[in-house]
Amino acid sequence: MFNFSFQSMNERQVCHFFPAFAADIGLMRRTRHNQGFQAKAANTMEIRVFRQEDFEEVITLWERCDLLRPWNDPEMDIERKLQHDADLFLVAEVGGEVVGSLMGGYDGHRGSAYYLGVHPEFRGRGIANALLSRLEKKLIARGCPKIHIMVREENDLVIGMYERLEYEQQDVVMLGKRLIEDQEY
Ligand SMILES: CC(C)(COP(=O)(O)OP(=O)(O)OC[C@H]1O[C@@H](n2cnc3c(N)ncnc32)[C@H](O)[C@@H]1OP(=O)(O)O)[C@@H](O)C(=O)NCCC(=O)NCCS
Repeated sequence: MFNFSFQSMNERQVCHFFPAFAADIGLMRRTRHNQGFQAKAANTMEIRVFRQEDFEEVITLWERCDLLRPWNDPEMDIERKLQHDADLFLVAEVGGEVVGSLMGGYDGHRGSAYYLGVHPEFRGRGIANALLSRLEKKLIARGCPKIHIMVREENDLVIGMYERLEYEQQDVVMLGKRLIEDQEY
């Protein structure tokens, strides 16, 4: 079930750094204090769907976030994603630069999220939080009852982050089988 208070709390934190985002999600009411608010481009964060022209920038971002693996060709991964639920592939843009990404999916039973990454210089401002929050909203709108996220066991700092975002560790073993070998990247 969607937990609004949890989401509001985290989006409010985002708003602290990105007031324009607050307006975007409707958390800031138009008051005398913010009526004439004009965010400087550099302070404006937008969560939007991936566009073709983001291609190179997103791969560079994944490289900086250490999300690339030799057995996954990122170009193929993007091409494949664009054929399936492309509007669940989200990026965060600040000052015209792509600084975050999240590749969501929905198979009709469970939602998923891959390639969550935020540029090192933009971390700790709630961008991952905002990306996940937007994806959750989109999944709920499609009737998706639950989201699964895979995290490498050694990435315990990130597991801590998800737990703070109310994700719970599941008592399952993940099995995988490669069906198509990508060119080593
Ligand atoms: C993980 C990552 C996406 C977080 O991005 P971010 O924009 O800095 O995260 P946020 O600012 O939205 O933080 C969300 C919450 O997690 C917490 N958090 C963020 N990074 C954390 C960390 N390394 N350890 C513990 N908590 C963390 C934040 O304090 C925040 O909690 P709060 O809402 O209770 O304050 C970013 O560190 C990253 O790109 N890491 C490398 C790639 C990676 O490991 N991706 C995850 C693959 S599963």
